[in-house]
Amino acid sequence: MRPLAILPSVLAADLANMGEAVREATAAGGDIVHIDVMDGHFVPNISFGQDMVRAIRRVTDRKLDVHLMIAPVDCYIEGFAAAGSDIITVHPEAGPHLHRSLALIRQLGKKAGVALNPATPVAAIEHVLDDVDLLLVMSVDPGFGGQAFIASSLEKLNILRAMTAGRDIEIEVDGGITPETAGPVAAAGANWLVAGSAIFKGGSAAYAANIAAIRKAAQRARGELV
Ligand code: DX5
Ligand code: ZN
Repeated sequence: MRPLAILPSVLAADLANMGEAVREATAAGGDIVHIDVMDGHFVPNISFGQDMVRAIRRVTDRKLDVHLMIAPVDCYIEGFAAAGSDIITVHPEAGPHLHRSLALIRQLGKKAGVALNPATPVAAIEHVLDDVDLLLVMSVDPGFGGQAFIASSLEKLNILRAMTAGRDIEIEVDGGITPETAGPVAAAGANWLVAGSAIFKGGSAAYAANIAAIRKAAQRARGELV
């Protein structure tokens, strides 16, 4: 089984105190920092740009997992790589040539991911499996934190687990992850769990317990806890 990681999505952090929020969420057990980039065009919301990635890069040594919800995407990949991203994930609908986008990310020395919206079929990535390091299953329609988990993502995770067996590919899930949904997604094959509102609720004193609750539910589903 691939190692489990819990990824705080800083979209749900106190944006006026981003540096502190990143430090506190990682000190509280968050493994990798998930950064949602939204353009108000590909998704109906605007969030952060590459300057935010650069700013977060300065306050943590953790990996930065940058989820690009922008179209066109190709012309921004180099900038997000230079800003300090470790993993760059694109949506197949965000550019004309997914293979070219993934090749560019890898040429820049970064890990390449593809995100599948709830209605995007797994066939979209079937022929680029040699070109990806990560597959991200969106379990909500992208654009906002705090939405309800879409259960059909469990079937998609199961299919991707079978498709990627034996390959060096992380299976990430993003949207509506809580202590209640963490078990089912981990059982279906997700090993990187992104969570925004479920981690950042309750203020910094609650982050460690919030992260531990998600991690424990996932570990139990993976048979790692008795
Ligand atoms: C949604 C983003 C998510 C979001 C998740 O478009 O990709 O990363 O922050 O938020 P929660 O965990 O609150 O559903
Ligand atoms: Zn995201």
